[in-house]
Amino acid sequence: MRVLVIGSGGREHALCWAIAASPLCDALFCAPGNAGIAQEATCVPLNPMDAEAVIAFCRAEKIDFVVVGPEAPLVAGLVDRLEAAGFPAFGPSAGAAELEGSKGFTKDLCARHNIPTAAYGRFTEAEAAKRFIRERGAPIVVKADGLAAGKGVTVAMTLEEALGAVDDAMGDQRFGAAGAELVVEEFLDGEEASFFALVDGSHALPFGTAQDHKRVGDGDTGPNTGGMGAYSPAPCLTPELEREVMARIVEPTVRAMAEEGRPFKGILYAGLMLTASGPQLIEYNVRFGDPECEVLLPRLKSDLLPALIASRDGVLDGFDLRWRDEAALCVIMAAEGYPDAPRKGTEIRGIDKTAGIPGLTVFHAGTRTEGDKLIADGGRVLGVTATAPTIAEAQKRAYEAVDKIDWPGGFCRRDIGWRAIGKG
Ligand code: AMP
Ligand code: GLY
Repeated sequence: MRVLVIGSGGREHALCWAIAASPLCDALFCAPGNAGIAQEATCVPLNPMDAEAVIAFCRAEKIDFVVVGPEAPLVAGLVDRLEAAGFPAFGPSAGAAELEGSKGFTKDLCARHNIPTAAYGRFTEAEAAKRFIRERGAPIVVKADGLAAGKGVTVAMTLEEALGAVDDAMGDQRFGAAGAELVVEEFLDGEEASFFALVDGSHALPFGTAQDHKRVGDGDTGPNTGGMGAYSPAPCLTPELEREVMARIVEPTVRAMAEEGRPFKGILYAGLMLTASGPQLIEYNVRFGDPECEVLLPRLKSDLLPALIASRDGVLDGFDLRWRDEAALCVIMAAEGYPDAPRKGTEIRGIDKTAGIPGLTVFHAGTRTEGDKLIADGGRVLGVTATAPTIAEAQKRAYEAVDKIDWPGGFCRRDIGWRAIGKG
């Protein structure tokens, strides 16, 4: 098969790394890719949002299967366009991607189908949103309805903060069109964890659990980021809780989406809060997480490619996935200044020195080459990932590798995994 992966981050490097290892894959392309991905795939300079260009490339290269990594092209309908042009593609249609594209859509779906999530209101008028906030009081959570690159959520501990978030989104239009509508919801207290399921329109297959670290600084301090590290599995999601999440959240969602005429295919990523009264859905994403993908795929023993094809073909019923009995942990190395103003263009050396560490893979999130130099070319730049029998051992291996990488222009958190390791 000739396979095209869409995207350029650490998630897409992990996808290419797994797909390149499949005996089914004869040729692998990635658009646009990065310097690490270029070790697994032929990188092609296409814009993922330009469906015409992607389709023209698929025709020219006789692509058999396309795997779309990021949410923006999914929400914009890239899978619909590819399928209409005769190219089978992994990922949800635009209609099904509304689960991530509109928080209000997901909240209404949960309400109609009794899926546990925080009580909420939807607003297109600032005054009505503020009235609701004053009625409910703080803490309270204000969210831009649409895609805001992970920056559209304010968890407000005070009334002033919540009212300010409404003004930011609606008055100053900080999130553009994504913030023209707001969801205001009840604050949920508990431990956060992520649950993944591979879905084929009617069946869902559990695809592992993870926890990430969103704040830039040690001890979960500083501004939010796309994620500074992750590990899998999430120890707090016991097998019993996993069954509950499948039965009360994931399966009802898959049924509801099919009933409502927008069957979901692809990876369903449920962000959960484990509250005293059970798991509640915080939000859905309609794609692999980044860096969660970098810790899920190294644990997968089965061939990834046939699983992705079975999701697209609607034949996951009875499909079996095998997992390694190992944990994985990923430390993100980011460019100085991330997340506000990451400094691009600094040189990275010494990745080859990590080769002797068992179970170690360095996924590239934002790199390019300049001659034979490796250059940082993004905010999150490397995902240093290790597998090991325990999370603690995986953490040790990952930081051993981090310490061998010679990159004065980068930094990382030193405490990835603390919550899991603290639990013994
Ligand atoms: P999101 O961008 O939707 O992933 O939200 C960002 C973060 O805000 C989540 O990972 C949670 O930590 C937090 N969050 C979102 N909704 C709630 C809620 N209802 N209660 C408490 N925290 C929340
Ligand atoms: N790491 C969070 C995300 O991919 O949305």
